[in-house]
Amino acid sequence: NAGSSGNLIGMGHMMGGTRTIVLGESGQEMTALRLPELAEPDSESETEITYTVTAQAGETAFLEGEKTQTLGYNGSYLGPVLVVQEGQQVHIKTENQLSEATSFHWHGLKLPSDMDGGPHHPVGPDETMQVDFTVKQEAATLWFHPHALGTTAEQVYAGLAGLIFVEDDNSDQLDLPKDYGVNDFPLIVQDRTFDADNQFDYAGTYSPDGTYGDTLLVNGTINPYVEVKNELIRLRLVNGSNARNYTFRLQDGAVFQQIASDGGFLEAPVALTSVTLTPGERAEIVVDLSGYAKGDTVKLMDGNATVLALKVTEETDVQPALPEILNEIPESATDGAAVQQFTLSGMSFMVNINGNQFDMNRIDTLQNLNETVIWEVHNAQDMMGSMAHPFHIHGVQFQVLSRDGAEPPENEQGWKDTVAVYPGETVRLAVTFSEKGTFMYHCHILEHEDNGMMGQVSVQ
Ligand code: C2O
Ligand code: CU
Ligand code: CU
Repeated sequence: NAGSSGNLIGMGHMMGGTRTIVLGESGQEMTALRLPELAEPDSESETEITYTVTAQAGETAFLEGEKTQTLGYNGSYLGPVLVVQEGQQVHIKTENQLSEATSFHWHGLKLPSDMDGGPHHPVGPDETMQVDFTVKQEAATLWFHPHALGTTAEQVYAGLAGLIFVEDDNSDQLDLPKDYGVNDFPLIVQDRTFDADNQFDYAGTYSPDGTYGDTLLVNGTINPYVEVKNELIRLRLVNGSNARNYTFRLQDGAVFQQIASDGGFLEAPVALTSVTLTPGERAEIVVDLSGYAKGDTVKLMDGNATVLALKVTEETDVQPALPEILNEIPESATDGAAVQQFTLSGMSFMVNINGNQFDMNRIDTLQNLNETVIWEVHNAQDMMGSMAHPFHIHGVQFQVLSRDGAEPPENEQGWKDTVAVYPGETVRLAVTFSEKGTFMYHCHILEHEDNGMMGQVSVQ
């Protein structure tokens, strides 16, 4: 499937040469975008909701011919969307039907650390684990994926990833596209390589600096399209790839609006012609199709690869407008705050934070509950080379204070749980934990995480 005219973004430069795996036009026919199902709750009231999430093996048809052996939640590939409301008590019965241990990590949720599903909470084959928490955060598009020690990259690659939509009064009241599958689409963007038998070739393409694929999958669809009206279309972009960065743009260079970052709505829509997401990051964007007519196709691209074709198949006269104000984001109280330094360095199997590789029995840093600490994250350029590291912290939504001393771009001035730190760069974050316990922080290039680019903060 490798095309000749691919893009070369986010590649690691390593001693001994540069690996290049390009994303090409797949050459496959356009297929209707697969839409993750909205999970059917086991029970539901205004104040409580109960779901079952089962990790299972299956087979998925991506290509003509042979099906692909995959993993999924409540299905063969990826998983359902868990919709929860701020203030609601959530109960999730997690179940492992795989032949190896996994865990269920809720990326972006502020929950007690014993519910967080990190490497301390493996769920063995045929075991279950009960997860209970109250939603104490605002509307956002979050996701969940496995996080067992050393196997995260491989299990995510095989298909384990699902979505969480947090809703609240603000998201209910905002006049935004919210008709799921009609003008509101999640896009889980991943890259994979298939072997000659249509199987995922993880082993054959593995790189300790992040495994790249040559074929784009969006919600598990190759070369997808959606049929839409010429109205405002909301796309919830999720970089669910092991390692690849994406720079999303419209093919004609048109402006779109970013309305949300990882942890919630931005204060106001931010007009952009491109947005870059590193692994783990999310962005909700709104594309205005009112200038197009029936029969037109608008393409969302990454470099020369098509991410999604929006086919206008129906016209409407409703003049679309986005709300001018989306959210109120308090400024973090950082006056006199302590500063904690985190230096990301090394490459390949030597990646580390502050010179240390992950040790489950070592606490790397302490922080007080509800105290705001400035995390100064530096990406050291060293002899071994360097690459961008997406830095993720469990159990919080933080604010980006600065990039190399300068104000962060407008679309990074909302809540974040993952932030790109480029070679040589220093990024300052305001980090406040509202739950006690031991939380992970790590590079979200999943092979780096598995190779030990991860530490633990104990919040007391
Ligand atoms: Cu999305 Cu610790 O991970
Ligand atoms: Cu996480
Ligand atoms: Cu990294």
